[in-house]
Amino acid sequence: MRHFTCVQDIGDIRSALEKAKYVKENPYADQHLGKNKTLMLIFFNSSLRTRLSTQKAGMNLGMNVIVLDINQGAWKLETERGVVMDGDKPEHILEAIPVMGSYCDIIGVRSFAQFENKEYDYNEVILNQFIQYSGKPVFSMEAATRHPLQSFADLITIEEYKKKERPKVVLTWAPHPRALPQAVPNSFAEWMNATDYEFVITHPEGYELDAQFTGKATVEYDQKKAFKDADFIYAKNWAAYQDPNYGKILNSDRSWTVDTQKMALTNNAYFMHCLPVRRNMIVTDEVIESPQSIVIPEAANRVVSAQTVLKEILLELQ
Ligand code: CP
Repeated sequence: MRHFTCVQDIGDIRSALEKAKYVKENPYADQHLGKNKTLMLIFFNSSLRTRLSTQKAGMNLGMNVIVLDINQGAWKLETERGVVMDGDKPEHILEAIPVMGSYCDIIGVRSFAQFENKEYDYNEVILNQFIQYSGKPVFSMEAATRHPLQSFADLITIEEYKKKERPKVVLTWAPHPRALPQAVPNSFAEWMNATDYEFVITHPEGYELDAQFTGKATVEYDQKKAFKDADFIYAKNWAAYQDPNYGKILNSDRSWTVDTQKMALTNNAYFMHCLPVRRNMIVTDEVIESPQSIVIPEAANRVVSAQTVLKEILLELQ
C-alpha cells in the first residue's frame, strides 16, 4: 500500500483485521521498519485523538515524528491555481507541498470539507494535491469525504466486542449545534459495507448521504424502529449532503438524541462515537457513562489502526 485514503486501500478486510490484531498484541515488534524514517503530520483542522494516536503509532514503529498545524505558525496557504497572490496568503500550496515532502518519508493530512463548494469538497482537492505533488506516500487523517483511520478503529472495536458473527450495526444521526462534514458517516458506511454485518442507517428525512458510501445499507427514517435488536449503536451528526441544502443544518431535533429509553430497544447494544461528542445533544450522560459505552476503547484503537496502516506503508518503502 502506497497511499491510504479509503477502505479499498487496505485490501482484504479480514487480512487487515489480522494485521491489526498482531500490531495490538506486539506494539513494539516492528521498530526496525521506522528507523531513520520521518513521519510528517499536517493539520489544517483541530484534533486531539488523531494527532496523539498517529504520533504514538509512528513512535511505536521507531519513526521520528514532525507535526505541523498549518493555521498556527505556518504561512497562510493559497490553494487555488491561477490566483494573483496580492492578498493575505503569502505561500502557494503547490510550493509548500513538495517542500514538506522533501523533509519526510510519509505524510498524514487532515483537511475537512469547507462547505463552500460541494464539488471541491467531494473531489478531495487538498488531499489529492498532497498525493500528486509531495512525492511521498500520503494517508488521510480525515479528509473532506472520509475518515478511514477512524473507521478502521471502529471496525477493530466492533470485532473485539461483537457477541455474534453477524451483528446488527446501526449508524444514527443525532443533533448538533454546528454543521459537521459527512466524512465520518460516509467512511463508517463504506467500512461497514465491506463486512457482512447487518447495517442500518437512520436519520431524519433530508440527511441522505451520498449513495456511493451508503451502498447496500438499509435506510430507516424511524430511529426507534432502527434501534430494535441492534448490537451496536454508532451515533454521529452530519450536515445535509443533498442539493440544494449541502452543508446546512435542517433541524436540531433533540428527539434524535441517544438516550436510555432508546438504548432499551436494542439487544443490550454497545454505544459508539468517534469523539469529540456533545453530551446531551448527541447522547445523554447516562448512556455515554453506562457500561455499554465503548467510546474509550474505540478511541484507544486509533493507535492500532494508524500503526497498522503506517506499517503497511513502511513495508512498501523497504
Ligand atoms: N475522532 C477524531 O478524529 O478525533 P479528533 O478530531 O480529536 O482527532
